[in-house]
Amino acid sequence: MKSIVLYFSYSGNTDEMAKKAADFTSSDICELKSPFPLSDDIKIVHDMAVEAKLFPKERNAIAVPFDHRPYSVFIIGSPLWLGTYPEFVIDYLKSIDWRGRKIFPFISFAGTRGNYLEELKAVCKGASVAMPFEMHGNKDFYTRPQEELDFELWLKQINIFTRNLK
Ligand SMILES: Cc1cc2nc3c(=O)[nH]c(=O)nc-3n(C[C@H](O)[C@H](O)[C@H](O)COP(=O)(O)O)c2cc1C
Repeated sequence: MKSIVLYFSYSGNTDEMAKKAADFTSSDICELKSPFPLSDDIKIVHDMAVEAKLFPKERNAIAVPFDHRPYSVFIIGSPLWLGTYPEFVIDYLKSIDWRGRKIFPFISFAGTRGNYLEELKAVCKGASVAMPFEMHGNKDFYTRPQEELDFELWLKQINIFTRNLK
């Protein structure tokens, strides 16, 4: 079963998880980039995300930068922005025909979950969505080692699903 890690990362936390996921599950990997430049100033990025949320616009799909057709398993990673996915991540996901596909979602977040899972399911109609993995972005000295182990356990179930017995 062909699998791919599809992810976006602003400050590097999801990037780290995505690379581990691709390695652990022998998956291909594709990084999604913002279609417009993102400031290095997190406050400006935050304001931009708030504006996109407060004033939602009907937006078009952006084609994912790879041929998604050979893949049946998608391991989708993103930071949470205001409780959900950055709007351009949603716009990429809209360009995929999800029917019959399996999604394993993982997020990096600071501690406040929103409705990201509902939004993912609404956009990826026809996909079967597994239980997500949620990792705290702050690398807490005490809890991080356990989170890393839990992430590996979560990745193992993907290997079982794809029969990639690592
Ligand atoms: C614009 C913006 C909005 C965010 N909103 C949330 C949020 O709603 N809930 C949360 O737990 N963390 C939130 N965060 C924190 C990020 O999800 C967290 O730092 C994550 O680890 C970043 O991942 P990255 O390094 O891959 O970009 C937000 C960060 C940014 C930049």
